[in-house]
Amino acid sequence: MTVLLFAGVIASLISGTYPLLGAGTGHAHEGPIVKGRVDPARLAATPFAKPGLVVDRAGQPVLNDRGTLDAYLVAGGFTFQPAALRVPAGVPVTLHVTATDVVHGFQVTGTNVNVEILPGHVASLTVTFRHPGEQHVICNEYCGAGHHNMITRFIVEAPRETP
Ligand code: CUA
Repeated sequence: MTVLLFAGVIASLISGTYPLLGAGTGHAHEGPIVKGRVDPARLAATPFAKPGLVVDRAGQPVLNDRGTLDAYLVAGGFTFQPAALRVPAGVPVTLHVTATDVVHGFQVTGTNVNVEILPGHVASLTVTFRHPGEQHVICNEYCGAGHHNMITRFIVEAPRETP
C-alpha cells in the first residue's frame, strides 16, 4: 500500500531563470537554455530532448554545482514527459519544466508546488521529496480537450544508503 505523504514536500525555490549551461562540462545536456528561455521548436537541441533525471553514463543521478539533481520535464500534447519519474527521497531535485504548445500548469497534488508552464520559458524549481511513495502531478491550467488526462507522477524511492 502506498501512503502519500504530501506534507513532506518542500518547494524551496521557484525561479524563472536558469543559468546558461556551459559547453564541455562533461554532461550530455548542453543546450541553448539562456536565462530561462528556450526555443520550443528546438527542444531537440536541449536537455529537454531526454526528459527525466540527468544521469551519468552508469545511469546514476548526477549532483549539479548547487548540490541538487536536475530533472527535465516537457508538457505538451496533453501529456507530460516523462510519464513517471523516479527520484530519491531526501535529495533536492531541481525540476526544469517547459511546454511545447500552449500554457499548461504543473502542480504536485497536495503540495504548494504549483507553477505555470509556458512555451519558450523554463520554470525551474527545487523540490525535496522527504518520504518514499508516489506524488502525482496534474495540469491545472485548462489547455484543451485532453486537459484532464495530463498527469505524471514522481516515484520517490528510499535512499540506498542509510546515514
Ligand atoms: Cu495541460 Cu491542462
